[in-house]
Amino acid sequence: MIIAPSLLAANFGKFTAEAQRAERSGADWLHLDIMDGHFVPNISFGPDVVKTLRPVTKLVLDVHLMCSKPEILLEPFANAGADYITVHVELGDKVEPLLWKIRSLRKKVGLAINPPTAMAQVQPFLSRIDLLLVMTVNPGFGGQPFIPETLTKIQQAAAWRRDSGANFHIEVDGGITFITAKDCARAGADTFVSGTGLFRQHNMRASVKKMRQLVHSFGHKRATKP
Ligand code: DX5
Ligand code: ZN
Repeated sequence: MIIAPSLLAANFGKFTAEAQRAERSGADWLHLDIMDGHFVPNISFGPDVVKTLRPVTKLVLDVHLMCSKPEILLEPFANAGADYITVHVELGDKVEPLLWKIRSLRKKVGLAINPPTAMAQVQPFLSRIDLLLVMTVNPGFGGQPFIPETLTKIQQAAAWRRDSGANFHIEVDGGITFITAKDCARAGADTFVSGTGLFRQHNMRASVKKMRQLVHSFGHKRATKP
């Protein structure tokens, strides 16, 4: 089980200290939400933030591109030190070459799906990805409420993973609290992104620990560690 605090909910004036706080708190990954003001109606930060954080933390850097033109960002984020790079399936014909490019940059390959998008769209790619990001809110902003209808998508992903013997992570992102994390773990998720639910807590260490315990007791296990 992977706990991945989202930097979007951190103090933007102290990214280095905030990444180190996440690491000290026992998190596994740091989730970085990249927003371009076009694919989503918000702008966050770019590759230079990843470049700044790479030397100061051992956390796996999990880059989530909510961008209309990720093709211009793959090399910059790869060179900056991203470990996982995730693009959205809603980009249609671009998806295939994007996944290939991420792999050729020797990065872990992620594919994200928004709540209204049919799961059939991700199915053809499942044998080629390391991570499936099931969005549990409509992307663009932190602090939104979890959309419960996404639980069936997590179950579908878990069933496909089990039946195919594939071993991609099933990551959930958006509105993840202690309660919704448990529901997602029960449905088959193994990787939990949480911004408000972790960075905005006074005691992040206690929150990471509690979330880990909750998902561990209800969760499924992947075949191997990342
Ligand atoms: C939403 C982002 C999320 C966001 C989650 O567009 O993809 O990663 O940071 O924030 P919370 O956990 O506050 O819903
Ligand atoms: Zn995200």
